[in-house]
Amino acid sequence: MARVTFISVIFLAFLSCGLGLVRTPNFAADIARAQQLQGPSKEKRDAVPAGYVAAPYYPTPPGGWVSNWTAAYEKAQKVVANMTLAEKVNLTTGTGESMGPCVGNTGSALRFGIPNLCLQDSALGVGDTDNITAFPAGITVGATWNKALAYARGLALGAEARGKGVNIQLGPVVGPIGRKPRGGRNWEGFGADPVLQAWGGAETIKGIQANGVIATIKHFIGNEQEAYRMDIIPHGLMQAISSNIDDRTLHELYSWPFAEAIRAGVGAVMTSYNDVNGSASSQNSMMINGILKDEFGFQGIVMTDWLAQIGGVSSALSGLDMAMPGDGDIPFFGLAYWAYELSTSILNGTVPLSRLNDMVTRIVATWYQLGQDQDYPLPNFSANTADATGLCYPAALFSPTCITNEYVNVQADHFKVARNVSREAITLLKNTNNTLPLSTSATLAVFGSDAENNPDGPNACTQRSCDTGVLGMGWGSGTANYPYLDAPIDAIKRKAANVTYYSSDSFPSGLTAAAGEIAIVFVNSDSGENQYTVEGNDGDRSASGLYTWHNGDELVEAAAAKYATVIVVVHTVGPILVENWIDLPSVKAVVFAHLPGQEAGDSLTDILFGDYSPSGHLPYSIPVAESDYPSSVSLVGFEFFQVQDTFSEGLYIDYRYLNKHSVAPRFAFGHGLSYTTFSRTSATIAAVTPLSSIPPARAPKGSTPVYSSAIPPASEVAWPAGFSTIWRYLYPYLDDPQSITASSTFTYPTGYQTTPQPDPPAGGDQGGNPALWDTMFTISVTVTNTGKVVGKDVVMVFVQYPSDNPWDTPIIQLRAFEKTDTLAEGANEVVTLQITRKDLSIWDVVSQNWIIPVSSTAPFLFWIGDSSANLTLACESLSGICSDGRATPVVAPV
Ligand code: NOJ
Repeated sequence: MARVTFISVIFLAFLSCGLGLVRTPNFAADIARAQQLQGPSKEKRDAVPAGYVAAPYYPTPPGGWVSNWTAAYEKAQKVVANMTLAEKVNLTTGTGESMGPCVGNTGSALRFGIPNLCLQDSALGVGDTDNITAFPAGITVGATWNKALAYARGLALGAEARGKGVNIQLGPVVGPIGRKPRGGRNWEGFGADPVLQAWGGAETIKGIQANGVIATIKHFIGNEQEAYRMDIIPHGLMQAISSNIDDRTLHELYSWPFAEAIRAGVGAVMTSYNDVNGSASSQNSMMINGILKDEFGFQGIVMTDWLAQIGGVSSALSGLDMAMPGDGDIPFFGLAYWAYELSTSILNGTVPLSRLNDMVTRIVATWYQLGQDQDYPLPNFSANTADATGLCYPAALFSPTCITNEYVNVQADHFKVARNVSREAITLLKNTNNTLPLSTSATLAVFGSDAENNPDGPNACTQRSCDTGVLGMGWGSGTANYPYLDAPIDAIKRKAANVTYYSSDSFPSGLTAAAGEIAIVFVNSDSGENQYTVEGNDGDRSASGLYTWHNGDELVEAAAAKYATVIVVVHTVGPILVENWIDLPSVKAVVFAHLPGQEAGDSLTDILFGDYSPSGHLPYSIPVAESDYPSSVSLVGFEFFQVQDTFSEGLYIDYRYLNKHSVAPRFAFGHGLSYTTFSRTSATIAAVTPLSSIPPARAPKGSTPVYSSAIPPASEVAWPAGFSTIWRYLYPYLDDPQSITASSTFTYPTGYQTTPQPDPPAGGDQGGNPALWDTMFTISVTVTNTGKVVGKDVVMVFVQYPSDNPWDTPIIQLRAFEKTDTLAEGANEVVTLQITRKDLSIWDVVSQNWIIPVSSTAPFLFWIGDSSANLTLACESLSGICSDGRATPVVAPV
């Protein structure tokens, strides 16, 4: 498979350079080199703009103090207390790139039944293997606005991961959030709003983890563009982009979904490649020790993104627990910042033993928390090869041979949930004169290669790194192999008798429409991860911008010139600009099918032919022009020696920015039509908890495991007698551990301390102070299906802060939403939504706490509607009155 090919190329390149390749058991030279690389000097980065601070935050708060982890930590403590140094180090460090069946593999502690843990992508299916379901992408889940479906998809994803023997699934994604419309990986997450992202992430996590699989929320944090995301390897040539984020924006926007994921019990967090405020995310003590582990009370495992570790001691002190895939500066050389180096750092005292014990306790406790000590399967697949047998450790060159793939089919009936999500995400943006739904007896001309399968097969391009045929997912590690891809044209032909398909993306010359013939034009827009460049786009939509690929706009325009009725179907990773054709008189209907995964066909025809009414809503705004957004959310280009990306727009992304500047979008955040109509009436608001500006004080942290502080005997990391090494495998062992003496020369990072920090006021439990989730108000609204077909509505509540609130705050912000059940014609449902303390709070950077701007004269307003620009009801906090006919606070759609 491609991974192996890539590895071979790297090997050949190194060989031809005459570099010494083969790892021998004598590590001395490597260790000396790695030691040079791992000191605090690696922390040195370019200066960031004034006001953006990565303050030191030490020491790491140990895990174990959150009550619903107590049992798992007690079990873990018993095990860790009896582990050797080698066993402890084993669990913290990957065995090396392509040194095991999964994309990441830890060492093991077999005496305690803990195997090499298997870490495997992706957020939409088990990556790089077979017999799985290729679920719709995160952005598609976001477009459903359906929490139950997000959970159901997570449940099915987790079942498949478990069936394949994956211990730690590398998803879901809530960072990027979608700050930059061109950002390459926005589609892996759930939409350009913290509350929508948070629900998508939390429900997915609950579903995955219900199977005992550890979910990983990623990428913490600020990974908003792909270009320049990593240090150039070898490190030091060029530093990763620095995402410069102020503290309030961090809390109210970017870390919000991560806090909610932690509250949902997520077992692992992956750091991002980029720096935050000039400090690498994999060793940013403020982000890991301060925000994740202290304020958010995270009890699980913090891992690096792949090859993002840039220092050994520095990352350990900053709170990292697991280095992935284990390699240090350059992969495939058997060099690491941890593994044998971590053993050294413990023996010479630079990394406190308590820190290593905490890393390992977190890993083992998470394993117990998810029940992986109970009959958990070992991996039965290989991400390295599709062959039944092959190299166990492909990067070792001389590797033993293993059974690599057992081809276990884990699909069950998960195609159903995949199809439900894909269908329910479909977003009807325009439907003049009820053009949709179509009759199955209509005469249809279907245009565009996006309607058919890639002629070379849906998996022809490695990790979907081409845009050929229907676009069911973006590209990169966030993909999975399609077991099949139900192409729209096949589904349309199954449904309708009179269909002609023109697969070219150029309109056939001379073609004219037959009487009554309807055109359906398929177009798309793709993006992905930075290791592949597709049609000039380096991950981000750097070349295509927000326009359709393959001259899709021209195809629509040409069809619109010849056909009286044109329906445009869009598969897309995010917003596109539709101005070239949206107002053409014959463009009667526009359907966004987002990224549907394997079920692209039937899910679409379910809607096109009216078996179901569309109920998807946009998880982002569609602007009229890209310049409607601030230049700070444009992609940032090359800068020597480190690219700076300063989030100067603060809280104002997507609809928040457009509203602030009174810019009407073409289609507002949340917009989505139905074949039926709904009324939202009889809103009521009930105060549940009296407002106070400061939340009730948090409880102090509970106790955490205590271990012996005696440095373990050096013999624990000596090579075991008769040990047979595998070249380039990362081991905890040292040639001459007895020679290691206490180090007195190590320079600790500025601000390093061993005295615990005071408990942060905003902390107190998983996710933060539990009082933040106290319900302050309950809002109810009656939704009635006033049309002629069955359908589902989405009720969204946006909060407007009191007019005398002293903080600069977006005019409205999404805070709650619910989707109704299927409502028959004339049927109604009372939808109830909770507004929490956190929903009403501002992050106060001075007191480092969430503050409600309580006012005795100006109310909070809760706007109720089905998009950020269609808010027809408002409830007031002070009077408790809900009314319609208020002037909406934001501009209406164009
Ligand atoms: C890098 C990606 O950023 C991350 O999302 C993924 O999980 C790892 N590679 C492993 O493939």
